[in-house]
Amino acid sequence: MNTAADIIVEGGYPIQGTVQASGAKNSVLKLMAASILAPGTHHITNVPDISDVFLMAEVLKSMGIAVDFDRAGAALTIDTAHLTSLTAPAELVNQIRASIAVLGPLLTRYHEAHVAVPGGCQIGERKLDIHFAALEALGMEFFTDTEYIHASAPGGLTGAPVYLRFPSVGATENLMMAATLAKGTTIIDNAAREPEIADLANYLNSMGAQITGAGTSHIVVEGTSAMHPADHHTVGDRIESGTFLVAAALLGGPVTVQGISPDYFATALLKMQQLGLYVEKTESSVTVSRNLSEPLLATDIQTLPFPGFPTDLQAQFMVMASLAEGRSRIAENIFENRFQHAEDLVNMGADIVTEGHFAYVTGVSRLHGTTVHSSDLRAGAALVLAGLAAEGQTRVTNTEHIDRGYEGFVSKLQSLGASISRD
Ligand code: UD1
Repeated sequence: MNTAADIIVEGGYPIQGTVQASGAKNSVLKLMAASILAPGTHHITNVPDISDVFLMAEVLKSMGIAVDFDRAGAALTIDTAHLTSLTAPAELVNQIRASIAVLGPLLTRYHEAHVAVPGGCQIGERKLDIHFAALEALGMEFFTDTEYIHASAPGGLTGAPVYLRFPSVGATENLMMAATLAKGTTIIDNAAREPEIADLANYLNSMGAQITGAGTSHIVVEGTSAMHPADHHTVGDRIESGTFLVAAALLGGPVTVQGISPDYFATALLKMQQLGLYVEKTESSVTVSRNLSEPLLATDIQTLPFPGFPTDLQAQFMVMASLAEGRSRIAENIFENRFQHAEDLVNMGADIVTEGHFAYVTGVSRLHGTTVHSSDLRAGAALVLAGLAAEGQTRVTNTEHIDRGYEGFVSKLQSLGASISRD
C-alpha cells in the first residue's frame, strides 16, 4: 500500500497552542476486538479517525459484525449479534497486526478461530509465541499453515496460572480477553502494565467480566459464563500526545495537549525535563515549552515496557537528541529493527551511528530539509517533526504509515502554526 499523499514541511515556523489528544490507537483496536465477547450493540467513544480503525472495522465486518463509525462524533457502534464467520481473513489481517486481538475473544466465546498471521509495521520480527503459550495454558489447541492460525478449544477454555516470559502488550490483552469466559480463575503474572491494558479491562468489566489488577504485573480474571454489551470512552493517546510535545520542544512552544493523563507517559516527561524543557501538568493535560536561547541537552534513553520509556516515542526523541548539545545514547530494547529513521535523519544532517540496538547521537546545530521515507508509523511522525525543525523544505513519502495511527496529523500541526501540507 502506498497511496497517501506526501507531506511537505517548511521548517522553522514557531509552534504553539493547544491540541486535543485523540483516543488511543493501541486501546481502541483491542476494544473493538473485545466486543466479540458479548452479543448485542456496543458503543465506543473517543475513537480516533485513523486508517487502522477502518481496517479493524473491516476485519470485524468480514465476520458478519455490523460496524458503524460516526467520524464526526468519534463514535463506533458495533453490533455483534449476528456473527457469521470465525475467520479473520489474510487480506485484511496482513495489513494490521493488532487483528491478532480477535483470537482470544473468538476462541473463548466460540471455541474456534481462524486468524491469518498478522502484518503491521516492519519494525522487527514480532513473534507470537507468548500469545500461543498463554492461550495453550488455558486449553487452546492450534496449528498454523502458510497463512493462518487455526485454533480450537474443544469444550471451552479453562482458567490457569500463566507467567509471561516477557510482558507482551498484545499477549496480555489476548489472554485477559480469553480468560473472561474461561471456566475458573486465570492469574497472569509478568503482565504488561500499559495504560491501554487497564482501559481494556475497564471495558471488559463493564461488559460483566471480573478482572482485578489490570495496570499491574499481576492480573486476576475470574471466568464468567456470559457477558453483555457496554458503552466505553477510549483513553487518550499518550504517544500522539508525546509527539506534539516533541514539536514544542523543537520549536519552543508552549504546546498544551488536552485529554491525556501525564501519568500515562511520566517517564517520557521526565526525560523532557532532563533535556531542558519546561513541563507543566494537570490531571488531564500537559504543557511543554522551551527557552530557545538555551540548547537541548543530550540524554540517554532506553526503551522498556511500561512504566519505562515507550518504544513508540523513541524515534521522536531521536530527533531531539539530533539537535541537543552533546552525545546521547539511545537503546532500543523492545524491537530489534527500529532505527530505520536514523538513516533519514542522517540524510537531513544528523550525526547518528547505530550499533545493534544502540544509537549514538551527537547533536548538530541544524538539520536541513530533503526527501525522506516514512518506514513505519512513529518513524514517519518523527521525520515530520525533524522537518518542522529543519532549514528549508522536507518531503516525507510513504505517509500512509502516519495515517494508520495519527488522526489529522497535518491539520493539528497546522493549528499549532506549522507550515505543513499534503502534496
Ligand atoms: C504493542 C503496540 C505497539 C508498541 C508495543 C510495545 C498495539 C497495537 N501496538 O504492540 O505500538 O510498540 O506494544 O509497547 O497495541 N514478542 C514476542 N513474542 C510474542 C509477542 C511479542 O517475542 O508472542 C516480542 C515482539 O516481537 C516485540 C516485543 O515482544 O519485540 C514487544 O511486543 P508486544 O509487547 O507484544 O507489542 P505489540 O502488542 O505487538
